[in-house]
Amino acid sequence: MQRDNSSTEGEGKVRDVDALRAAFLDSMASNSTSVHVVTTGSGDQRFGVTVSACSSVCADPPTLLVCINTRSPANAAVAANGVFAVNLLNVAQRGIADTFAGRSSTAKPFDFSCCTNTAGTLGVPLIDGAVAALECRVVAQQVIGTHTVFFGEVAAVTRAPVTHMPLLYCKRDYGQFLAF
Ligand SMILES: Cc1cc2nc3c(=O)[nH]c(=O)nc-3n(C[C@H](O)[C@H](O)[C@H](O)COP(=O)(O)O)c2cc1C
Repeated sequence: MQRDNSSTEGEGKVRDVDALRAAFLDSMASNSTSVHVVTTGSGDQRFGVTVSACSSVCADPPTLLVCINTRSPANAAVAANGVFAVNLLNVAQRGIADTFAGRSSTAKPFDFSCCTNTAGTLGVPLIDGAVAALECRVVAQQVIGTHTVFFGEVAAVTRAPVTHMPLLYCKRDYGQFLAF
């Protein structure tokens, strides 16, 4: 049966909401983003999760935000620890991205043995070879729907040589930057 998409009630409204959600996801998938692993904790209490939702907030003071699904164990760990690192992956670190997204066909999901890493100034894991690793203290957090937005004030930055290029994600696939 044909449903009325313009309706604001009943079946039509439900269908509108679904269509809007799908259009939103497709639009966001067309956006090209860098790929990051947010890490926190130490020893066998380390957590990491791959995120594209990361943005600079301001430089004075240096502040960024990340959005992490409330279902992710990394979410509770960041909230409990109050510190995290954003590891901006380089173009050769696709396997690390898949591992911390829980979808590697070869590595154990979310397992730090997929990469060499060292503890940073705040004690959080910094992934070797990352284009940049930014260590942050949580200064604010807000749950929006399924995700928590964590605002982190940057306490230390570790940078790789400028020749390292970032891993990108667009249209549900990995890629790399190509200047005009
Ligand atoms: C490229 C990429 C970007 C992602 N970005 C985010 C993100 O910004 N925030 C988030 O919470 N999860 C993000 N995810 C999903 C998590 O990394 C992870 O896959 C998910 O939390 C695993 O839970 P699930 O198996 O229950 O879906 C991303 C995954 C990939 C592959």
